[in-house]
Amino acid sequence: MGKDNKKIVKKLKPAKLVKATKKEVVKAVKTERKTKNRKEAVKKELEPIVLQAPRGMKDILPEDQPYWEQTRRVTEKLARDYGFSRIDTPLVEFSNLFNRSIGDGTDVVEKELYSFTTKGGDKVALRPEMTAGVARAYIQHGMNVLGKPVKLFSTGHVYRHDRPQEGRQREFYQINYEAFGEQDPILDAQMIQVATRVVQSLGIKAVQIQVNSIGCPVCRKDYKDLLVSYLESKSNKLCVDCKRRLDVNPLRVLDCKEDKCSQVAASAPQSVDHLCEECRVHFKNLLEYLDELDLPYTINPRLVRGLDYYTKTVFEIWSGSEEGRKSALGGGGRYDGLVKLLGGEATPAIGFALGAERLIIEMKRVQAKSYKGLKPKIFLAQLGEMAKKKSLRLFSELEKNGILVAESFGRGSLKSQLRVANRLGVEMTLILGQKEALDGTVIIKNMISGEQETVSSAKLIDLVKRKLKNDNVVVYHDNHDNH
Ligand code: HAM
Repeated sequence: MGKDNKKIVKKLKPAKLVKATKKEVVKAVKTERKTKNRKEAVKKELEPIVLQAPRGMKDILPEDQPYWEQTRRVTEKLARDYGFSRIDTPLVEFSNLFNRSIGDGTDVVEKELYSFTTKGGDKVALRPEMTAGVARAYIQHGMNVLGKPVKLFSTGHVYRHDRPQEGRQREFYQINYEAFGEQDPILDAQMIQVATRVVQSLGIKAVQIQVNSIGCPVCRKDYKDLLVSYLESKSNKLCVDCKRRLDVNPLRVLDCKEDKCSQVAASAPQSVDHLCEECRVHFKNLLEYLDELDLPYTINPRLVRGLDYYTKTVFEIWSGSEEGRKSALGGGGRYDGLVKLLGGEATPAIGFALGAERLIIEMKRVQAKSYKGLKPKIFLAQLGEMAKKKSLRLFSELEKNGILVAESFGRGSLKSQLRVANRLGVEMTLILGQKEALDGTVIIKNMISGEQETVSSAKLIDLVKRKLKNDNVVVYHDNHDNH
């Protein structure tokens, strides 16, 4: 008998069960179980619903959408301009994809992964970033046969179970650019340029570019040994986390935010001084290309990034102003070994991601412009049952012809509808009353001069279009980019 069942039997009246047969005990246990389940179900039903998004996750409300829309427009446009094709990969991947690519010893995998087993028994995780999924898709769909570099752009939510604070959420939105198949550092420079262009096009003009090279597996091994022996000699000055990092991920000690670790890191050996010839030349050429592009950069020897797949170039984009410099707006680097590690053919690659929430916080701080959608210049008012019905169709006719219209169909009185029209600041109101509905006409009221004219419904669309044109008002079309 299982542990649970024993508990239940104990709870049941012993007197009754002493003489019971095995069959009767099983029956009694089953009945008790059912009652317990029923009680639990009732209890669950009554549990109050917490009217709050989960910790570290936020609603993006309508008032914030103009910033999001601006971010979408700018990032998509630059992706197109620089030859990226869009790719969307699932929010969920097999967990071991992340363990292998990002690395078991990283904070992202070790502490922050939302992993779970599905009802079918698959071990999966919500993506904590996009590079691993995009690299998996690149291999799965044989994109290695495409002309190089294969440039892929994706955006979407990612999840990290981190401690939330301003600019650090558990659910956040990444804008991700990757390029596969090119090892020339000219591409590294171009990727840094794209990242900078995106941030500046969003109105964050002052940016700081930080670059570093962490070498390839060959030179990094020697460098790591050197670093570990230096750090071991100072281990009594390191925080608890860094003492552990010494074994699993020594490079991360360099970017620990604890004061005492920063002091140790300040005199640590630097990776750029220990690069092999190939990595040294790669880094030197990258810096020359950045000079050519007039992109001012800072070499940050402590920039190591938190994900294991990086090789050679790593970089981050920060706000250029002191107040905005709490956390990086974006970051990335080369990952020449990842595709092979995951089972594809050896493919050099580089990419970066920007965090939309952090971009938007900074856009607001510097008072960057957000996207202003078109506002309707026309209001459609109706009076009486028949007119109300007709106005529903008229609204749709206007919309099909690319004319933006506002309405307040739920209101009955003309006065209150005109009040709404005034509040919206429209240029004209179309009035459809009982008489007009019968005659097949519509009144056009000029909201500035107050003048009114009655026109036939059949000619209305053309007339409105003409009036809007004369007023220099853009007629809206689905494919019209009014940005
Ligand atoms: P990452 O530096 O981990 O890199 O993240 C990129 C950006 O995502 C950060 O610079 C930041 O703007 C944003 N971000 C990161 N964590 C959070 C958070 N908890 N809350 C809000 N925003 C956050 C990557 O993810 C790499 N996959 C980038 C890459 C692409 N490397 C090569 N290709």
